[in-house]
Amino acid sequence: MREAIASAPGKINLRLKVGEQQPDGYHPLVTVFEAVSMREYVVVRTRRAPGISLRDIVCKPGGGIDREQSAIMRAIPQEENLTYRAAELLRPLASAQGWGSTSAGVSLTVYKSLPIAGGMAGGSADAAATLVALNEMWELGLSMDQLLMLGARLGADVPACLLGGLSLGTGRGDKLERLDWQREDWWALAVNAQGLSTPDVFRQFDRMGGGSQSLSAEVYAEDLASLSNDLTEAALALRPELQAIGERGVELGASEWAVSGSGPTIAFRCDSESIAVVVANAMTTVQGVRMTAVAHGPVCGAQIESGLPVQLVRISAT
Ligand code: C5P
Repeated sequence: MREAIASAPGKINLRLKVGEQQPDGYHPLVTVFEAVSMREYVVVRTRRAPGISLRDIVCKPGGGIDREQSAIMRAIPQEENLTYRAAELLRPLASAQGWGSTSAGVSLTVYKSLPIAGGMAGGSADAAATLVALNEMWELGLSMDQLLMLGARLGADVPACLLGGLSLGTGRGDKLERLDWQREDWWALAVNAQGLSTPDVFRQFDRMGGGSQSLSAEVYAEDLASLSNDLTEAALALRPELQAIGERGVELGASEWAVSGSGPTIAFRCDSESIAVVVANAMTTVQGVRMTAVAHGPVCGAQIESGLPVQLVRISAT
């Protein structure tokens, strides 16, 4: 049996400009992604039985398995699960290199810490980590540029999770350029009891007038002095209670708040780690907040790991 482990970060959009919907259904974006320190871990193993076996384990922030959220993941049809689709995408390449005759199948175990349908690219991070782990285990030798291209076929946020750091996304958000601007952010994150579907938020955005025909792809470091997200109003229209959650975080000491991506997770930018901890702790009692976390960014993109972090080793042993 062979095995590889990889991790990939979630993201927060520091800036998200949305243009007019295109005939392919997608909206052109100009966005700045910051990869943040909440990471997904994927363990891949060869197995003799053919096919792909997949297990999603949703982890609680303090340790242990979140059984309710794990059940939500299990209910997603496999063909729609980005981890499964990432493995399907690389399997023909593995077969072409002879893996089909020795170990036909693969098992994937995903340790999720990012919210499901939360606007932090949790599913995309799972796919990014899966691509990197399988590239290693099957010795496919794919370069980062090749992985970015394959990742974009799975979902618009997958390239940002692969590349990490700070990046400018154009096109569907999948055409990336690395930004080397120096920055360190501390975040308190408030995760909501119920996720929001990205297509629903884009549809609401269109109903509310939609985006402009022309988007400038020019973004400067100073544009990131404060957060801006064109999808905030649409997310608030679908979930009015998010406004009060955002305002409460600022009363508690956060500098500013924005919906992360298409929401409903709210990202509070804080001036220090200690303020982020205070805000996150206090937000746990706010109505509508299911879970909170503290994160920092920017952090590195998807990478091979020599092992699982200790809290995940405990979970894997259960
Ligand atoms: O690419 P991904 O599968 O993550 O996108 C999910 C959905 O979000 C798309 O089917 C589309 O409805 C919407 N979307 C969009 N414009 C984008 C990215 C996503 O309309 N740039």
